[in-house]
Amino acid sequence: MENFEFYNPTKILFGKDTEKKIGKILAKDDIERVLFLYGKSSIKETGLYDKVVRALKEEDIEYIEHRGVKPNPVLSHTREGIEKAKRYNVDAILAVGGGSVIDEGKTIAVGAKTDKDIWDFFRREKEIKKALPIYVILTVAATGSEMNGYAVITNEDTNEKLSISSPHIYPRVSILNPELTFTVPPRYQAYAAVDVIAHVIEYYFTGQHCPNLQNRFIEGIIKTVMDTTNSILRDQRDYNARAEFMWTATLALNGLSQVGIKGGEFPNHMIAHALGALYDIPHGACLSIVIPAWMKWYKDKNSHQFRRFAEKIFNLSDEEGGIKAIKAWFSEIGAPVNLKEVGIEEGEIEKIATNAHNIATVWKMDKTYTKEVLTEILKNAKD
Ligand code: NZQ
Ligand code: ZN
Repeated sequence: MENFEFYNPTKILFGKDTEKKIGKILAKDDIERVLFLYGKSSIKETGLYDKVVRALKEEDIEYIEHRGVKPNPVLSHTREGIEKAKRYNVDAILAVGGGSVIDEGKTIAVGAKTDKDIWDFFRREKEIKKALPIYVILTVAATGSEMNGYAVITNEDTNEKLSISSPHIYPRVSILNPELTFTVPPRYQAYAAVDVIAHVIEYYFTGQHCPNLQNRFIEGIIKTVMDTTNSILRDQRDYNARAEFMWTATLALNGLSQVGIKGGEFPNHMIAHALGALYDIPHGACLSIVIPAWMKWYKDKNSHQFRRFAEKIFNLSDEEGGIKAIKAWFSEIGAPVNLKEVGIEEGEIEKIATNAHNIATVWKMDKTYTKEVLTEILKNAKD
């Protein structure tokens, strides 16, 4: 097992009706004024908006709304939020939604505390020194953003989808009520499932050594994601399946699945972010296209682990069988598994490879992931 540091300061409130506590939680922390972020319409349709407003009013907490966060959140809307946070001098960020709302909230939390250009932090040219405290009510389980120090934003002027990482942007408190996810549509549940699996397999396959505990933990996450997603797709309101899926998604990217592994990179996310930046495809759908293609290219570099994956997840004996089986499951639940399915022709591959290579450069992975390699991987995904 490798040496590691583990730090996770996020307090989790999990279970039914927990969202009603948001006012009291903020009041206890002496928060008087928040920037309240949400997406397009889902929280109004489900009645969550009214519940949040009521809880804030009961504690006399002022709120400034920042609505309309897009899935794959964009820099221009984030900049507007930073401007509002500064103008109204808010004490904290309240993000009510999925990964996109949380990530934009985290970025605003950083932007509100600096006069530097926020995009410099994404280009890794500046280090984050502070941020406003962040409070979350999660409405779609997928990204793990509710309990980690990452945020991903798309710069729509340059078509770059990049991330920040800092101990200052872990949410202070995240509220996870599985009932709030009953309305997540089946298609989006499929993308979420792919995303959670992606979060654990990146290190599982690319790490040079994965301790037994980590292997078993990760395989447990993958199996739980598959079982609970199958149940959710049969019955949207299956509380136990929604609850287990929600907590599994949080555990997949709160740091625990990566500790003790030697090395490890996030190549599938790197390529998926290029697809997201260029075509605005949902994050999980980008991953379901990239993962089987990347696996095909990578499998001989760690054949032992690919054989283990085939055996432990699908009870199969060969690497190729494991790759085919995961691809088939992605398809079965309704996630796309090649570029053609999302209307991207082979002629676009060079553009995607160039975009992914830019991310590889920022992430210092460009030695392995040259444009030629990225093109080869993407060609595996063409149809
Ligand atoms: O905008 P509204 O109307 O709220 O609709 C949203 C949105 O269209 C809808 N939705 C959310 N909760 C719902 C619901 N619909 C019905 N019922 C509910 N309860 O779902 C749609 C997608 O929401 P979004 O927040 O975009 O989804 P997700 O949580 O998958 O977040 C994706 C973003 O997170 C980034 C992705 O790249 C992408 O930009 N990621 C963030 C990570 C992190 N911070 O750690 C890691 C991930 O790898 C990922 O990159
Ligand atoms: Zn992801």
